[in-house]
Amino acid sequence: MITIGIVTRNVHGWATTQLTRAIIELGYEPFPFNYNSLYTEIHQGGYEVFSNRINLGKKLSALIVRPLGRLSFEQAFFRMDTLHLIENLGIPVINSPKAIEIAINKHRTLALLAKNGIKVPYTVVTENVNEIVKKLDYSRGIVVKPLFGSKGLGSFLLKDRDYAWRVLADLRYLRHVLYLQRFLRHGGRDIRAFVIGDRVVAAMYRELPGSWKTNIARGAKPKPLKVTDEIAEIAVKSAKIVSCDVAGVDIVESEGEKYVIEINSQPGWKGIQKVTKVDIAKKIIEYVVEEKIKR
Ligand SMILES: Nc1ncnc2c1ncn2[C@@H]1O[C@H](COP(=O)(O)OP(=O)(O)O)[C@@H](O)[C@H]1O
Ligand SMILES: [Mg+2]
Repeated sequence: MITIGIVTRNVHGWATTQLTRAIIELGYEPFPFNYNSLYTEIHQGGYEVFSNRINLGKKLSALIVRPLGRLSFEQAFFRMDTLHLIENLGIPVINSPKAIEIAINKHRTLALLAKNGIKVPYTVVTENVNEIVKKLDYSRGIVVKPLFGSKGLGSFLLKDRDYAWRVLADLRYLRHVLYLQRFLRHGGRDIRAFVIGDRVVAAMYRELPGSWKTNIARGAKPKPLKVTDEIAEIAVKSAKIVSCDVAGVDIVESEGEKYVIEINSQPGWKGIQKVTKVDIAKKIIEYVVEEKIKR
């Protein structure tokens, strides 16, 4: 029997429900559980990882990881370490903890993408306000983002140097790291490509006229988009660079160029599912069983 685990904050959430349904429809056994049910037992000679008294090393054929959520420093390490420990027991974890650690971090992701030939916007990441405030060109606007943000929350646009001095110095004072990026004019729309393995299974425009943030969570509307070879190539290559099996790749089109701005390693697909006939949950499970579970 193939048993596929799903670790999540809420076993009744939309994506987890979709995955559970797909697992059953394909004839496998689902095992969804919450992060806060995890525990590790360490004893002489090794360790075991449990959820609700079930030994995951014995139970699972593979584990799918849903969003970790907003966490304290300790929780983040505990959850990530537990994923590493599960993987070290020989269970395929999708996405792998290594991939999640890279993709969750916009700084490292963007540097790796740039180094590997993907077009990305000019970006500076620093703790030092003085050096950087002088250097930036405010005429186009500078996007300031939290390093570990999502859903467009916490990012804002700077258009003036005096303002930048004040705001960035305050952020620095509060111990934030500054992630500053050239603003790309995109006319209220960007692209989300949903990657599974070597394929983009679906893509959409996210449209929110008059807004520079086009996250679905900010109110953008999903619009159908044909997966062109160009989009597929950019998105699949980007996902590979950060070692993601499953990824939501955000692409901004500006002045005729396509830029990758981030990679989501635990992407939702409620929005994109509205504009595609592909059963995304089923595609994920088929991929996990065919490509990840050794038989
Ligand atoms: N450099 C940029 N120029 C213009 N728009 C941007 C830029 N970076 C992000 N955006 C807009 O903000 C949204 C959120 O940014 P993103 O980097 O994907 O962070 P999040 O993790 O919050 O989704 C993007 O989908 C896009 O619409
Ligand atoms: Mg995004």
